[in-house]
Amino acid sequence: MPIVNRVADLQPDIQAWRRDIHEHPELLYDVDRTAAFVAERLREFGCDEIATGLGRTGVVGVIRGRKAAGQREIRGIGLRADMDALPIVEATKLPYASRTPGKMHACGHDGHTAMLLGAARYLSETRNFAGDAVVIFQPAEEGGAGAAAMIRDGLLDRFAIDQVYGMHNGPGIPVGSFAIRPGPIMASTDSVDISIEGRGGHAARPHLSIDSVMVGAQLITALQSIVSRSVDPLESAVVSICEFHAGNARNVIPQTAELKGTVRTLTAEVRALVEKRVREVVDGVARITGAKINLKYERGYPVVVNHPSQTDVAIQVAKEVAGDANVQEMVPLMGGEDFAFMLEQRPGAFIFCGNGDSAGLHHPAYDFNDEAIVFGTSYWIKLVENTLAA
Ligand code: NI
Repeated sequence: MPIVNRVADLQPDIQAWRRDIHEHPELLYDVDRTAAFVAERLREFGCDEIATGLGRTGVVGVIRGRKAAGQREIRGIGLRADMDALPIVEATKLPYASRTPGKMHACGHDGHTAMLLGAARYLSETRNFAGDAVVIFQPAEEGGAGAAAMIRDGLLDRFAIDQVYGMHNGPGIPVGSFAIRPGPIMASTDSVDISIEGRGGHAARPHLSIDSVMVGAQLITALQSIVSRSVDPLESAVVSICEFHAGNARNVIPQTAELKGTVRTLTAEVRALVEKRVREVVDGVARITGAKINLKYERGYPVVVNHPSQTDVAIQVAKEVAGDANVQEMVPLMGGEDFAFMLEQRPGAFIFCGNGDSAGLHHPAYDFNDEAIVFGTSYWIKLVENTLAA
């Protein structure tokens, strides 16, 4: 296939960019070097328009096709990659490992950025489409809602983005294959912060105290009943309390305790139900124990919901790139992804590109698989040429 051949020619450059970005990981919104690197490449490629500083450090490039648009209603599509790394000490010992101890590209955003740059280069050279291909490089996917920040800065209105597509690498999915599903594909991620104020005292006189440790234990147990007894068993939800801090002596009942956790759901209805039940359980445990309990419940990333007809388009493109047998329908993941904010505003689809038998995402031994580059890059190119065919 001609596209894959041309992308194969570009592969060494894309791999070199990927490894350069890997060596220089940056966190959240502080992706200045990476953003400058991206903007410089887009300038070299001859993008028609380059915008920087959207969502603080996001970069956008616009590539105009050379074909006449005809009657088509789509003016352009957005392709999105993320640029940020994670606060992890890298354990790969690779020659291009992170040069900054404690920061690491452990989610493959180095690969995402490089593949989208590769597609931008190809599309700038060939322009074999009608309308605008808008390449979006966002900061702060890992917990900072960089996608929402770019939208607030006008991303979707300033540029001709009528549809929007995202891609993530998938460890455990063979290289050369893709996985996707219509509807919910990744979960909403809400956070729960609970502070318990009991009454401290002597361990031997519990009747004179309100034991914040016991209150915390009751809360954790009662919160587990939400998934098992309030949510429809055919729906999905996770309530994980992952931090419990209390006490510093074996003979003292502590005055306070702190719990922190996360709630994951796959629909707006279940998300609302779980939030309501968490509030009720906290109120109830406060009443039965006499402790003061303060709950901070914060909504984070929404559910990533793939739109059906754009998912069909993505499947078709993935099949053209990888072959029919190498595009699987997947079950949803309970991890989160801030591309959800873009899919709330525009129709589109999010797809996983196989990363082979690598360590898992966010693991210190993880590495993006450079063999996946030709597939991911070809997917972006075909997606533009098919969606924006004249
Ligand atoms: Ni990621």
